[in-house]
Amino acid sequence: MPESPQQAIAPHALSPDAAKRLAAAKALELVVPGMRLGLGTGTTAAHFVALLGARVAQGLEVICVPTSERTRTQAELYAIPLATIDALPELDLTVDGADEFDPQLRLIKGGGGALLREKIVAMASKRMIVITDSSKSVAVLGKFPLPVEVNLFGLEVTKRMILAAAKASGCDGEVRLRKNPGGHAFVTDNGHFIVDCHFGAIGDPDGLADRLAKIPGVVEHGLFIGIAKAVISAGPAGLEISGQRD
Ligand code: A5P
Repeated sequence: MPESPQQAIAPHALSPDAAKRLAAAKALELVVPGMRLGLGTGTTAAHFVALLGARVAQGLEVICVPTSERTRTQAELYAIPLATIDALPELDLTVDGADEFDPQLRLIKGGGGALLREKIVAMASKRMIVITDSSKSVAVLGKFPLPVEVNLFGLEVTKRMILAAAKASGCDGEVRLRKNPGGHAFVTDNGHFIVDCHFGAIGDPDGLADRLAKIPGVVEHGLFIGIAKAVISAGPAGLEISGQRD
């Protein structure tokens, strides 16, 4: 990664999927033999897992903790050595995608429903690096509905408390239970529901994060604040890295 906090590299046109793969390939440069890695979830993280799998096949020795059952399945296909987070509670690096990031590297995550494990694994890591296509860059978080993982018990109470937290944080909108295409409630790997909060612009993400964390029915929210050390973003203008190298 370049020395400067933000630097454009090799501008050229890229499809969104090629952009994700380029960002994943750049993150792979951070991996050195012997590392303990957290593996994110989503289409961008899947590129990283595939590229890492190719390196493992060539003899790279790493051990990894997946952030979802989906990622576990993919990593197993590539014969990437895996451990649980309890067996490996200190990680060197986690590489994961994001649904949005702002100039302060605050994130919305959880579009794929894996936000709880993603946050646990990211916070157990010395470094969390986000890989993404440039469409996820926003000035203000909130265009992407904020996912919140909630307990099944007391869902209506929790939804009301989330709305009250939003209003106290200067935003408002709908809190919708996430459903599968078949119409049933989406259930996370941890056996919880997800509500997607359509608040629009979140002017005070730090305040909203604090208020959501105090709601008993909220298991975890998708605001990742002060967690990502850098964002590697690729798009039509090329590759851009925001944040710290170390
Ligand atoms: C998974 O729960 C999410 O946090 C993903 O990291 C996020 O939705 C980004 O996914 P894509 O890489 O598929 O856009």
